[in-house]
Amino acid sequence: MILDCDPGHDDALALLLALARPEVRLLAVTTVSGNAPLEQTTRNALRVLTLLGRTDVPVAAGADRPLDGVLRIAPEVHGASGLDGADLPEPAAEAVDASALELASAFLEAEDAVTIVATGPLTNVAGLLSARPDLLPRIEAIVLMGGAIGEGNWTASAEFNIWADPQAAAAVMTCGRPLAMMPLEVTHQARLSTADMAAMEALGNRTGLIFADLMRYFARVHAEWYGWDGPPIHDAVAVAHVLGGGLITTRRYPVSVEVEGRHTRGRTVVDTRPFSSAEATVDVGVSIDREAFVRMLLQAIAVFP
Ligand code: BDR
Ligand code: CA
Repeated sequence: MILDCDPGHDDALALLLALARPEVRLLAVTTVSGNAPLEQTTRNALRVLTLLGRTDVPVAAGADRPLDGVLRIAPEVHGASGLDGADLPEPAAEAVDASALELASAFLEAEDAVTIVATGPLTNVAGLLSARPDLLPRIEAIVLMGGAIGEGNWTASAEFNIWADPQAAAAVMTCGRPLAMMPLEVTHQARLSTADMAAMEALGNRTGLIFADLMRYFARVHAEWYGWDGPPIHDAVAVAHVLGGGLITTRRYPVSVEVEGRHTRGRTVVDTRPFSSAEATVDVGVSIDREAFVRMLLQAIAVFP
């Protein structure tokens, strides 16, 4: 697996989950601007890997802005650093001296089948698809967190990751490789409760303490916006989907991305009509076993010091 991300509180948990599970071989982390500017998301990935004692995993920085050149970030949700709320260690390693495109291409050249999990704007993934179409057959699947069937979170119509770079999302949706999309309908079910955050802290390890602080910070904006007592762990849902085990139910639908609409730019148009004549190509997450998901996260946190 290659994790392309913009950490990000929930990206950090996605990364932790991928590292904790023996079924996953995490080849690389590539970073993109999204929740914060690229320099911050790269630094955050390195800080999380340092906390988890896994600076052996290579990190490469990718796109510093979306395909249309307009930087879009989310400090309202993740704070100015992109990962506010906890005392994370300083990075004990640096990003590799290669771009995200170069690092991902090198692994795709070397491996027969790589799953790309994308938990930020899709700029890097779209860049890879257009720069190296020869490597398409090596991509086993692209699993992304993004979009919504109905209500968005950044605008009434759009979810943040797709809104931030709709052109990139549109390119990914039409790439022809197996695709799975975890939209807000499923990630909003994947919420921690106050008790879950207390359980995280009660694990007693440093990782649990720091992640409980991170999740309590991430909870604030969701309390304000939705009245929820805990945050949705959007991005770890994408990793959980790769792990399988029946936690997440998907349905295959045609999905297109609105790249122009004045009110609907960044909307994922999911054609749920049973009589649609469009080809259904995207496995769209619709429900998740929340209790099992939270258990999986707690077990994953407990693996680390
Ligand atoms: C997505 O946007 C970011 O805030 C999160 O990290 C997640 O990837 C949710 O809309
Ligand atoms: Ca993210």
